[in-house]
Amino acid sequence: MAKLKILEFPDPRLRTKATPVTEVDDQLRNLIADMFETMYDAPGIGLAATQVDVHKRLLVADISADKADPHVLINPEILEKDGVTVTEEGCLSVPGYFEEVERAEHIKVRFLNAQGDEIEMEATGLLAVCIQHEIDHLDGKLFVDYLSEAKRTRIRKKLVKEKRQQAAVVI
Ligand code: NI
Repeated sequence: MAKLKILEFPDPRLRTKATPVTEVDDQLRNLIADMFETMYDAPGIGLAATQVDVHKRLLVADISADKADPHVLINPEILEKDGVTVTEEGCLSVPGYFEEVERAEHIKVRFLNAQGDEIEMEATGLLAVCIQHEIDHLDGKLFVDYLSEAKRTRIRKKLVKEKRQQAAVVI
């Protein structure tokens, strides 16, 4: 297994729309293992392939505190959503920023698991929010897109500046 590099806003590659996975094979399962390692190490509760610069429709999630509830969703499709919940969200691709985002409280989602079986699952609360956030990544969308333009610009400028400062230290 290997830890993967996570792209950070405003990297334009985060805006790529991922294409469907056509084959669930060992190569994909290796990527899934690497994504879990990367997510747990970060640490985060969800990671979309887009964030590690692989533009396939694949996400991993685990909202448990002890790595006890791993989910792999390949080609996820939301079939139903209802209710409203507001969560203070962060994102491994927007490090250090947390803002309230409104999403559906309950979803029904269809996907393939790591064995290639078709699964339908219902999710509520944090898991539902996490899956919606990660599917947004697969569509090239970030949680900052739900904020005002002024707020998004402020975050972008600060992250670009921080990155420049980090680079200056390395040199
Ligand atoms: Ni994210």
